Amino acid sequence: MKRLHRAIALTLSGVLLTAAMAGCGSTGSAQDSTDRTIVRIGHNQATDHPTHISLLAFEEYIEDKLGDKYDVEVYPSELLGSQTDMVQLTQTGAIDFCVASNSILETFSENYTIFNMPYLFASSDAYHAAMDDPEITDPIFESTKKAGFEAVTWIDAGTRNFYTVSKPIETPADLKGLKIRVQQSPTNVEMMNLLGGSATPMGFGEVYTALQSKVIDGAENNEMALTSNGHGDVCKYYSYDMHQMIPDILIGNCAFLDEMPEEDRAIFEEGFALVNQVEREEWTKAVEAAKDKAQNEQGVQFLYPDTKPFQEICMPMHQSLLEQYSELEPIYEGIQKYNEQYPTDAAEGGTEP
Ligand code: GCU
Repeated sequence: MKRLHRAIALTLSGVLLTAAMAGCGSTGSAQDSTDRTIVRIGHNQATDHPTHISLLAFEEYIEDKLGDKYDVEVYPSELLGSQTDMVQLTQTGAIDFCVASNSILETFSENYTIFNMPYLFASSDAYHAAMDDPEITDPIFESTKKAGFEAVTWIDAGTRNFYTVSKPIETPADLKGLKIRVQQSPTNVEMMNLLGGSATPMGFGEVYTALQSKVIDGAENNEMALTSNGHGDVCKYYSYDMHQMIPDILIGNCAFLDEMPEEDRAIFEEGFALVNQVEREEWTKAVEAAKDKAQNEQGVQFLYPDTKPFQEICMPMHQSLLEQYSELEPIYEGIQKYNEQYPTDAAEGGTEP
């Protein structure tokens, strides 16, 4: 089944790439049989995931308001390829939008590195307030325009924590000698190695098999990975060390966005805001349900270690980031203001409820 899925995905992304290279209009957008512009959106989550639900709300909204002109198609589950493939397809205009983790976007623009910093946000409230502030996000979101794509909204992906097949992680020392899957981003590799584990970067779609075949000893992600991606079938310990709050980003092809009539663009902007709103509402419910299922059906044990030792090891990364990219300093300072306003909430993750 997995092989069939991959074959379909490869064929689809191959077809799209060929279409883009052959040049099908300046934006690469295709027309359906009623001459409507087909708007293709790809992502890597399953159809029960808040990301998919929010994109279906977008599809419905656009087709309700502009259904005579646009036909929105949402492709879940890496059907159009891995996130990195999909970003490249969006860049060329072979597809119009995709959802990419902020992690992998740092390889397209270094500005994105800031949101990948471990322990950047003091609490979920600080994270949400910062991500909702255009003064913080605009300079980052617009930084890939020259590369052909831009971010149109952010999507909550909760907090990333370690989970392992057989060894509970209570302190950073427990990570020693363990191969832990991380996203394909230099920041994540550095973080993992600093914490003492052996960073094993790979695409999201490969993690389940790697865990099952013991190529890796664990991974790190939000709670949804346990259930929606089945990682909780293999990993029995989930430790709330709270190392990152990394948003997902909905990115769009610049030519497609810039060339549409102004009044259409205004409706699309409303649609992007709806994606953010619907996903955040769904997220809270989905995480609660995922924790319940992981604990009661998959037998996952949730651990609440002291987060400070993890944090202390990672904090020097902030200084190095600012030394390397001094232009990010005002954004970093802006985030600190939200951290003061919304300090760490003891009830959140790090402490047993
Ligand atoms: C989360 C995130 C995805 C990302 C995945 C990963 O699920 O929402 O965008 O691809 O983590 O770890 O790769």
